This record gives sequence, C-alpha cells and structure tokens, in this order.
Amino acid sequence: MRPARAADLPEVIGLDATVTGLHKADYWQRVYRRYGVAGQGVRHFLVAEYGGRVVGFIIGEVRDWEFGSPPCGWVFAIDVEPRVRQKGVGTLLLGAIRERFERVGVRKLRTMLANDNPLILSFFRSQGLRAGRLIPLELEIGTADGTEAGAR
Ligand SMILES: CC(C)(COP(=O)(O)OP(=O)(O)OC[C@H]1O[C@@H](n2cnc3c(N)ncnc32)[C@H](O)[C@@H]1OP(=O)(O)O)[C@@H](O)C(=O)NCCC(=O)NCCS
Repeated sequence: MRPARAADLPEVIGLDATVTGLHKADYWQRVYRRYGVAGQGVRHFLVAEYGGRVVGFIIGEVRDWEFGSPPCGWVFAIDVEPRVRQKGVGTLLLGAIRERFERVGVRKLRTMLANDNPLILSFFRSQGLRAGRLIPLELEIGTADGTEAGAR
C-alpha cells in the first residue's frame, strides 16, 4: 500500500474503466492533482501494488465540521482489480487509509454507496461500517420546479 504516483495513472484509469465502463482520463488527472500530490496529510490517494502492478486504489479525505459533524474521514472510492478480489486487498486498502485518518486524530470513518450495489455494501459491512446518523437527500435540478424532466 503506498501513495499514488503520476506513473500509476494509466493503470488506475484502466482499472476504473473495468468497473464503470468509462475511460475518464481528464477526471483522473484532476483527482491526482488534488489527492495525489497536494494531500498535506488530509487527502489520500493510495494504491495497492503487487508484482509491480497496481491492483487496487482508494481515495479519501478528512473533512472538518461539515454536515454539523466533527472532523471525519470520508472514503470516496475504492476499487480492486477483478482478478485479485476476495484476497484481502480491499481490506488492506481500507486499513491503510483508516490508519492515516487516525494519525490526524479522526475518530469516525464515513462513506456513501449506491443502494443497488450489494457487493460494496457487503464489503463495507465486513469492515465494521454500519448505517450512521446522516442520511443523503437528493433533488433533480435544472428544471423550474425541481421535478425530473419527463416525469410530469
Ligand atoms: C468491494 C471491493 C473493493 C472489495 O475488494 P476485495 O479485495 O475483494 O475485498 P476483500 O478481499 O478484502 O474482502 C473483504 C470482505 O468483503 C466481503 N466481500 C468481498 N467480496 C465479496 C463478494 N463478491 N460477495 C460478498 N462479500 C464480499 C467479504 O465479507 C470479505 O470478507 P471474507 O473474504 O472474509 O468473506 C471489490 O470487490 C471492488 O473493487 N468492487 C467493485 C468496485 C466498486 O463497486 N466500487 C464502488 C464504487 S466506489
């Protein structure tokens, strides 16, 4: 487990594309600039390397006093290469970012996940995460009354 380097980006982009089906090179350049090189101890972009290859990554950040909450460590993304899943790589990645959050005094780790993704739910539950105090709220915007275009 180590911080991402610029040279890892093609592998990270490829790995993300296997999960999302999208090749988002510009997006990953921006993520790297924000989390990879300028983290200053609170932003983390870590990769799992095995046999000279990147086989997984995790991204997260400490956010202070947002949503009325004391500083907490948010995990935004985690991905493990399909061929090496269920061998503990995801657990190691989460452990590595958790350790970095703890180092700066954070006592709560949070994430959000899609409710139609049982795999990621199963993973986070296995790591001890449970439903928390916060609930997400959403609104379709870009229409005058907030209703979804085509829903009327
Ligand atoms: C979720 C993910 C990161 C897990 O990585 P991993 O390296 O396979 O995880 P681990 O081997 O550390 O597994 C830890 C636990 O997670 C759970 N888990 C992992 N894969 C699972 C599966 N296919 N089905 C059910 N539970 C699973 C198990 O409880 C497992 O513990 P066990 O091995 O003792 O049974 C990986 O499957 C992945 O990258 N998924 C797609 C990415 C994704 O959807 N990301 C969400 C957007 S951010």
